[in-house]
Amino acid sequence: MHFFKYHRNELFAEDVSVKALAEKYSTPLYIYSYNTLLRHFRAYDQAFNNYQHIICFAIKANPNISILRLFAKQGGGADVVSGGELYKALKAGISPRKIVFAGVGKTDEEIRFALITNILMFNAESEDELREINRVAYLMKKKAPVALRINPDIDPETHPYIATGLKKHKFGIPIEDALEHYRIASRLENIKVVGIHKHIGSQITKIAPFVDALKSILILMDKLRSEGLRIKYLDIGGGLGISYKDEEPPIPKDLAKNLLPLLRGRDLTLILEPGRSIAGNAGILVTKVLYVKKGKEKEFVIVDAGMNDLIRPSLYGAYHHILPVVKKQRNTAIYDIVGPICESGDYFAKDRELKEVKQGEFLAVMGVGAYGFSMSSNYNCRPKAAEVMVKNNEHFLIKDRETYKDLIRGEKVPAFLK
Ligand code: LLP
Repeated sequence: MHFFKYHRNELFAEDVSVKALAEKYSTPLYIYSYNTLLRHFRAYDQAFNNYQHIICFAIKANPNISILRLFAKQGGGADVVSGGELYKALKAGISPRKIVFAGVGKTDEEIRFALITNILMFNAESEDELREINRVAYLMKKKAPVALRINPDIDPETHPYIATGLKKHKFGIPIEDALEHYRIASRLENIKVVGIHKHIGSQITKIAPFVDALKSILILMDKLRSEGLRIKYLDIGGGLGISYKDEEPPIPKDLAKNLLPLLRGRDLTLILEPGRSIAGNAGILVTKVLYVKKGKEKEFVIVDAGMNDLIRPSLYGAYHHILPVVKKQRNTAIYDIVGPICESGDYFAKDRELKEVKQGEFLAVMGVGAYGFSMSSNYNCRPKAAEVMVKNNEHFLIKDRETYKDLIRGEKVPAFLK
């Protein structure tokens, strides 16, 4: 459910005309709906209302500070995977006591930064990492709160690039080695074992993988308890899918209904790390048609956004709806919608049926609020797009469009080349 709707054949973001925004801020332009973000955050919060919980938004999905701030104001926390994300979470006013730090390759510097700021816990992914966290904590005379990320070997039945919970993946500690790792962790002087973490993949559209993964984690937790290790935080990761095309994923309420009964009688704080299911369909990318070009076999709509602005179609073959910003009574045509970048993989849709489009018109790529801007780059020396947030009938520029100057920031020409 989102707040991008047509009124009299014109697409609106909440109560603001998308065309007006495209004309004011130029394109390519990311537009986010405040009320959609709020609604999705609250859907999680309310679904898990009866159980002690923290919603730690996965910053990688969308690290814009205004968006993080929105969640901070709702009492949300953050799942971070780098020093940079930690920095942004803190800048947005997210309480460090609600920040969890995952990732297979944390550096000393990142570990130190997280210890200085007193985050809630590290989600550690290997024995080497445990020892490193212990070493850095020792040097800082601190005790590092740690959860172990367990890989439960559950197939989330999603795109292979975004599945993470199988044996063959680099993530987490294999469940059969988990006890041993907990024993090691509990013997390390400067580590305090506080939690257990799992995240099995992204864009999961069924409930069963979540239930199966939680069940095996709970069995492990009981074994830990019998060894005298008490777990306080149960972090079940993110991964709930959204509808890009015709998927019908469960909603947070379904997740809660199926998971909470398994936790009855257990005194835990539940942590969730949703990214896509909160931000995904709260954002669109508006792009202008530069040219319509008839090839020998195909007709191409060439737009001013490229794979540098949105890489999901190129990288995962991902499907995104593409809508005209102003609907016209026209015949339909079959197009490849492509960007200006010098790569054949630079496309948003292939063989897509649309009402005929003309030069200068705007199109909206839907469902790009997560892993859209956050995965954008400067490839082909293209300045990154601007980002706007709409709230009811107001709109706010939340990130300037980059300029050519931004493209050379930090670059230096050595004297011998001058
Ligand atoms: N927690 C951890 C440890 C994660 O690795 C991820 C995502 C999340 C939470 C959030 O998952 P979500 O609720 O958004 O599914 N770039 C890909 C998605 C990569 C997801 C990586 N990890 C895409 O565009 O589909």
